[in-house]
Amino acid sequence: VPFEKTAETMARLKQAGKIRCCAVSNYSPEQMDAFSSVTPVQLAQPPYNLFERGIEKDVLPYCNQRNIVLMAYGALCRGLLSGTMTRERQFEGDDLRKWDPKFRKPRFDQYLAAAQKIEKLAREHFDRSLLAASVRWMLDMNVEIAIWGGRRPEQMAPIDEIMGWQVTDTFKQGVDQALAEISVPIGPQFMAPGARD
Ligand SMILES: NC(=O)c1ccc[n+]([C@@H]2O[C@H](COP(=O)([O-])OP(=O)(O)OC[C@H]3O[C@@H](n4cnc5c(N)ncnc54)[C@H](OP(=O)(O)O)[C@@H]3O)[C@@H](O)[C@H]2O)c1
Repeated sequence: VPFEKTAETMARLKQAGKIRCCAVSNYSPEQMDAFSSVTPVQLAQPPYNLFERGIEKDVLPYCNQRNIVLMAYGALCRGLLSGTMTRERQFEGDDLRKWDPKFRKPRFDQYLAAAQKIEKLAREHFDRSLLAASVRWMLDMNVEIAIWGGRRPEQMAPIDEIMGWQVTDTFKQGVDQALAEISVPIGPQFMAPGARD
């Protein structure tokens, strides 16, 4: 479906009062330009987390410059940043991590090692958990809303640990240094669904 056609339909729905805002997910800046030629994009939902930084080069500045709300998903990189992931973990049934290269050796071990380094930094700098520091980091990178995928109500308990403070530039630099020590060539394409034919 051409992006302009989608935009026309969404603009009609908004005008009719059936939706409150026009939001898109996994759009590139060029696709948002095409959508915006019909009606403004008000919110964008891309993947983003400490490990998957692709949007920093295009979508993030594009949205920040245009006051488009960023509501990023995958805050915990499918659990790699939850603080509970281990190398023994098995993925069952239709769990997408069975096919995600980030969860296959040797890459899996590298991610776990990086997560451990970041956890240590979070403890040293703020006495916070890896999960709290990861979500906080995201919000302090100019993302307005961070979606993390709690599967059970108790997994939402860390919310309080995330609010009311900010990560420092020194922590951000420490994170970048930790990531530079491992190579992370796998991008967010494994988070997002494939393009439609
Ligand atoms: N628009 C799109 O294309 C798109 C694509 C992907 C996702 N999304 C949206 O984003 C949401 C989140 O995505 P995601 O599930 O990939 O997010 P995520 O936050 O990166 O990872 C979620 C995983 O983190 C673990 N977790 C969550 N809270 C935890 C806690 N308190 N303690 C320990 N582990 C915890 C869970 O792992 P365990 O299963 O190991 O417990 C869960 O499976 C989805 O539900 C969906 O709404 C959108």
